[in-house]
Amino acid sequence: MDRCNFRCPYCMPEDTYHEAFRFLHRDERLTFDEIVRLAQLFVGLGVNKIRITGGEPLLRPNLAELVGELTGLDEVDVALTSNGILLAQHAAALAAAGLQRVTVSLDAIDEPTFTTMTGGRGGLQRVLDGISAAIEAGLTPVKINAVVERGVNDHAVIELVERFRGTGVIVRFIEYMDVGNINHWQRRDMVPSAELLARIAEHWSLSPVDPNYHGEVARRYRFDDGAGEIGFISSVTAPFCGDCTRARLSSDGKLYTCLFASTGLDLRTPLREGASDTELLELVRHCWIARTDRYSEQRAQKPAGKDKVEMFYIGG
Ligand code: 5AD
Ligand code: SF4
Repeated sequence: MDRCNFRCPYCMPEDTYHEAFRFLHRDERLTFDEIVRLAQLFVGLGVNKIRITGGEPLLRPNLAELVGELTGLDEVDVALTSNGILLAQHAAALAAAGLQRVTVSLDAIDEPTFTTMTGGRGGLQRVLDGISAAIEAGLTPVKINAVVERGVNDHAVIELVERFRGTGVIVRFIEYMDVGNINHWQRRDMVPSAELLARIAEHWSLSPVDPNYHGEVARRYRFDDGAGEIGFISSVTAPFCGDCTRARLSSDGKLYTCLFASTGLDLRTPLREGASDTELLELVRHCWIARTDRYSEQRAQKPAGKDKVEMFYIGG
């Protein structure tokens, strides 16, 4: 879903994404049937994890129906990334549809900073209620994604860790990245994970944990007192392009092989023109084999294009 009910300044600043902004029309977005057909093909090519992202996926009516169809595919792990504001009302239906887990984007736990980070939308308590509902529904372990911007919410990091220590919720700090073009990213706005880790380690003793699987992007640390773990996603200071196995499908059916890409492969047109599974598979396979994306590794040498896709359009 390309729309969102938040206006986080680093993702969808209000001055650009105002009322007159033209989001995708309904018929431009893939239908659930089209998404499932493509998902089936991707699973056939070896995909075993599906992440439903956005924008805000829960703005899509009856999302649980799509979840049900995706979890019905063979051997896939299906999770959802949401801003949490509508989660309390949907958690039970999502769990009943077979959803395994949710990740909630939450950049601060105090009201003023939360308001700044979400562009004045939403409500902290509703997001916290959403997290509780997800835990109750068994969508666990719930993960929290917190983007950290220097001078904006980095003072709120310790409180965020403290709030979720011992609850089973895994807080993951994401280095603020230069995705898209509208957030005017500058390196000095980003807080390196090493610095955050050092700050957190002043409060609690932590030990590194081995990755769960090859290509895991979060570096994990466990609290030595047994109160759970935290993670760091450091695409700026420790790029993981070499291990990246992610393909991203936008709401209008374009396949992107990198978060920092400018163009995607249009799958909607052939899909709607009646392409066979074999033809679609050939397109996808060719695109994947030909990919050379190493944007984060080359960030310093090769400044970004001026026309990168925006994060809300292809998800995290
Ligand atoms: N840098 C880092 N993370 C970002 N997200 C959105 N924009 C950025 C950015 N510029 C995060 C969201 C969400 C996840 C999918 O990506 O907060 O948690
Ligand atoms: Fe919406 Fe997430 Fe973007 Fe915030 S970061 S505007 S919640 S999609």
